[in-house]
Amino acid sequence: MWHAGEGGSNPGQDSLTAIFMHLTTRRHAALLFGLLALLLAGCSTGNPQTTIDPQGPNAQMIYDLFNFWIFWPAVIVFFAVEGVLLWAVFRYRGREGDPLPVQTHGNTPLEITWTIIPAIILIVILYFTFQTQAALANPPESRDAVNVRVIGHQWWWEFQYPDLGVSTANELHIPTGAPIKVTLESADVIHSFWVPLLAGKQDAIPGRVNRIWMQADKEGTYFAQCAEFCGVQHALMRFLVVAESPGAFRSWSDNERRLQGFGSAAVPTVAPGAQPSLVQQGATLFASGACITCHTVRGTQAAGKIGPELTHFGSRKSIAANTLPKDSDGVNLKRWLRNPQAVKPGALMPNLNLSEADIEAISAYLESLK
Ligand code: CUA
Repeated sequence: MWHAGEGGSNPGQDSLTAIFMHLTTRRHAALLFGLLALLLAGCSTGNPQTTIDPQGPNAQMIYDLFNFWIFWPAVIVFFAVEGVLLWAVFRYRGREGDPLPVQTHGNTPLEITWTIIPAIILIVILYFTFQTQAALANPPESRDAVNVRVIGHQWWWEFQYPDLGVSTANELHIPTGAPIKVTLESADVIHSFWVPLLAGKQDAIPGRVNRIWMQADKEGTYFAQCAEFCGVQHALMRFLVVAESPGAFRSWSDNERRLQGFGSAAVPTVAPGAQPSLVQQGATLFASGACITCHTVRGTQAAGKIGPELTHFGSRKSIAANTLPKDSDGVNLKRWLRNPQAVKPGALMPNLNLSEADIEAISAYLESLK
């Protein structure tokens, strides 16, 4: 419980009062405005999750609606209202010896005017909002459109490409210049699919299918985030959208279709009498341990459906739904394997109490799944 310090005075409160008293001086008011300007400078572009730097037609339409019909009208209204206010303050300020002004109560024409004008402004904004919603409802017709089925899980994202026979997790690859038609489902609670630079938000609701589309005009890696509170690790339910040229996207999906397994190039079989490599030791541990009850590596007996698919884990850029970046020496992957609960408390993956040798082998195996 908060209470004042001994003797009834609170040092924190006293210093706050002192600060506010200081702010009444002009110099400190200037300082306050300087700090505000600095704060607003934080709204600059280059922020990976900004909505004011659209990188595709869907995000552009939302930005245009905000910019032309909400932001600039609000700026005009602000300066008009503040201007009239300041004009009235200075024009009608009291001077020494002024008589008492005429006392009035209300002004009906004025009050009707300032009720009607905002109502008209809001109706105009509503009209253009509906127009934008209608324009966003369906993606442009295109032979290059890519269908993606997205399933939200606590706390990661499953991505299936039904037309390509590809599935992956937490890293959505898309070709540039093509509309991506997304259907959204949830395996547990309500999540919200949000790629701020490319599109608006859309909920993933258990028991129903929602739709959204997006398009990336430029190649790049776009940050994305669950935007609906869905439990303790909501903030770490992230993913990456990797937009690449149509050719690079085709090579990616061709590679993703490839199965991984014993006997494939990724895990060569051990010659009789030879010492198994670290990757082979990891593959054996992975296949015989708890891993395969939750994870799938297509082409092996690992077919668990509870956790993210790991078939091409080695080619991904992040770990645990973009909670940790992949580093070249595998420090973050080993940290995750050592104790997932320390990295992402509440995640479904328990601490498996793996030995350091097992962690080395399993991380070598997972990194080999390219
Ligand atoms: Cu899923 Cu928040």
